[in-house]
Amino acid sequence: MIDVSVEELVALDQAHLIHPLHSASAHLASGPLVLVSGQGAVVRDIHGREYIDGLSQLWNVNVGHGRRELAEVAAEQMSQIAFASNYSGQANIPAIRLARKLVEISYPNMQAVFFASGGAESNESAFKLARSYWKMQGYPEKLKIISRRWAYHGVTIGAMSATGMSAYWPQFEPRAPGFLQVAPPYCYRCELGKTPGHCPIDTAEDLEQTILREGPDTVAAFIAEPVQGAGGVIPPPDGYFTRVREVCDRHRVLFIADEVITGFGRTGKMFALDHWNVRPDIVSFAKGVTSAYIPLGGIIISKPIAEALRALPPEQAWMHAYTYSGHAVACAVGLKNVEIIEKEGLVQHAAEMGDRLIKGLRTLESLPEVGDVRGLGLMCAVELVADKKTREAFPAASKVGAKVLAAGRERGILYRNRGDVIEMAPPLVVTTEQIDRIVNVLGESIRVVRG
Ligand SMILES: Cc1ncc(COP(=O)(O)O)c(C=O)c1O
Repeated sequence: MIDVSVEELVALDQAHLIHPLHSASAHLASGPLVLVSGQGAVVRDIHGREYIDGLSQLWNVNVGHGRRELAEVAAEQMSQIAFASNYSGQANIPAIRLARKLVEISYPNMQAVFFASGGAESNESAFKLARSYWKMQGYPEKLKIISRRWAYHGVTIGAMSATGMSAYWPQFEPRAPGFLQVAPPYCYRCELGKTPGHCPIDTAEDLEQTILREGPDTVAAFIAEPVQGAGGVIPPPDGYFTRVREVCDRHRVLFIADEVITGFGRTGKMFALDHWNVRPDIVSFAKGVTSAYIPLGGIIISKPIAEALRALPPEQAWMHAYTYSGHAVACAVGLKNVEIIEKEGLVQHAAEMGDRLIKGLRTLESLPEVGDVRGLGLMCAVELVADKKTREAFPAASKVGAKVLAAGRERGILYRNRGDVIEMAPPLVVTTEQIDRIVNVLGESIRVVRG
């Protein structure tokens, strides 16, 4: 039961809650959407209005809302033992079992797991592990981390320094030293004006030139989202990650796959690099591991790296720790969540629904504002432009993307935008009817905003 009025809630919110990406006035202007319940791909607000959750909240509610079995497993674990540290010399059963499960369902070269509580912590762990691994191998100068423009890796100092969306920097600079960015394979807006297949970016030559310029003995790792998410859903051209792997191998650079969004079925494979048969050295995960029912993240690491860690003598223990690494309740929920994904065939379902979504979105290409439609599995975007031929963007002040979002919300669909790129990633349980509605309402919203 809700025992407080909407007006009271909004006043309390304004007074006391600092939101992520906080602007109090913008928050109030959009009329805070207070969600109170959900079922499958549908969420309900405090007024009883229903919406299709077009982005699975933050790309993370993979198995959909309202899963009683996840609540039950959490309650059961809490009543047994809610917290049991995993610090040296202690362990708990769900953490051990989930580590084993993640090794089993990720890439064949994976061996061990270190848990964190979210995506940024996972990436920090990956960066620190890469540096410490090279020190163990006798290359103490291999310290730099290369990422890509338009990447999103989180906002802690290290993760922010790897994040390639520049809006996240100015208020907090300087960024940490040793982080640098290369071009993404953003073919619709190729930085070099080339066409796919004939571009040093999508052939990863650009990455190789950067490593050579910096000096391979100074570079620890390259980090990439298999499909760039928050930056505008940017899938790579086929062959890109094969070349990335070759370049990393040639120069002894670790390849970190940030699968915080793409993991756990989102793209129609359990982990996304399987689309191209590529194996990373470290996988960062979070979000879909528990479908956001409780915070959890971590890294899955390859056998050579795990063996190097195992070989450390007691006086040189790996000095990286989070209190909540391997939280028993979070890991119990993670295990159940993975079981649901497997039992219900949600990876295959995501592939099929993703196919329907992108085909539906392609029917919108006839609209004058739809410049590009792209995606992989249940991760899609439509980029709106002022001029289709020249690909000229709308003036930022016209806020076309934000207006389309508002029109979608009025019509019962929650999308997300990066400027005029409309992003979609519904829960993996989404139905064909819901997919069609996501597409149709987007078309309608674009027409309404055009006026
Ligand atoms: C690819 C990717 N990596 C890392 C993060 C950071 O995760 P968190 O917000 O849990 O720190 C995100 C969050 O959206 C993400 O999309």
